[in-house]
Amino acid sequence: MIAVKATALEKHFGTFIAVNAVSFEVEKGEIYGFLGANGAGKTTTIRMLCGLLTPTSGEATVAGFSIKTQPEEIKKRIGYMSQKFSLYSQLTVMENINFYSGIYGLENNVIKERTAEVIKQIELTGYENRLVEDLPGGLKQRVALACAISHKPEVLFLDEPTAGVDPLLRRRFWEIIAELAGNGTTVFVTTHYMDEVEHCHRVALMHSGKIIKQGSIRDIKNSVFKKQIIEIETDTPVEAYKILAARKNETGEVSMHGALLHIIQPEDKDFSIQKIEALLKTNGISTHLPEYVDPTMEDVFVNIVKKYEKDSKEQEAHEN
Ligand SMILES: Nc1ncnc2c1ncn2[C@@H]1O[C@H](COP(=O)(O)OP(=O)(O)O)[C@@H](O)[C@H]1O
Ligand SMILES: [Mg+2]
Repeated sequence: MIAVKATALEKHFGTFIAVNAVSFEVEKGEIYGFLGANGAGKTTTIRMLCGLLTPTSGEATVAGFSIKTQPEEIKKRIGYMSQKFSLYSQLTVMENINFYSGIYGLENNVIKERTAEVIKQIELTGYENRLVEDLPGGLKQRVALACAISHKPEVLFLDEPTAGVDPLLRRRFWEIIAELAGNGTTVFVTTHYMDEVEHCHRVALMHSGKIIKQGSIRDIKNSVFKKQIIEIETDTPVEAYKILAARKNETGEVSMHGALLHIIQPEDKDFSIQKIEALLKTNGISTHLPEYVDPTMEDVFVNIVKKYEKDSKEQEAHEN
């Protein structure tokens, strides 16, 4: 069963196209990830799907209802945790969940019971009576999620739910999302953390308003990555990065992962640890533990975006 379907969905702000002919389908119970840098158009897409923003053109259905003609039907069936979610900091965890349950139209006699259920499900036991303003960031995020699901929505929209949260709490958050999906909730989630896509069943990569790749993680990895990657560690990664980036046509695209550098095999050029090491050494930089590694999702997506930009430039040049 299809829970969300977008067909050539588009949003213009004046002459600027924020979302450009986006099409995709999300199955019931699926975790569908929308990935992209800031400004890619993720939030604008979500706001259209939630019936909060009218599309310029195109169509979409959520839980079988049209966002254009039946937004009220949709609002009853979805939960939305916005990027700048607003909790009442002067209220307790329980009071916040009660409040949102009321907004979503739950009857008074079930609100109490449902709040208790959600507190257990989202693992907020022990925090019921704490003021939201006293909670650390990661827990606020969990309270916002609890508020978004108290009415048992069919489709849950989460806009960067883990932004700014430490890795351990992020991991726990994704486990909770997986449980929700396991129980049949469809989850549409955006993130700009590339590594988080591993938690999604399928993903779409958004870039300048367009979806430039979509599919399962495995399919995407397989389709784009047959190249080797060298990982190196140096004491001066920024200098090493600059040296390699300046010679990327010869040595391969380079990206930084904390203190580590990844160099991607270039087309039609020799590629070896020795060659990279020698180049850095002539520039006074020594390397530790260089090795060939599997691509991370970040490598994969950096590669897709770079290729997309190169192809569009070539196409433009061809048209002019
Ligand atoms: N109401 C608006 N008016 C004008 N431009 C907007 C508006 N909302 C978003 N944009 C622009 O649309 C683009 C996409 O924004 P957004 O959907 O928030 O991206 P993301 O969520 O991927 O960071 C950005 O360039 C943003 O500045
Ligand atoms: Mg956003």
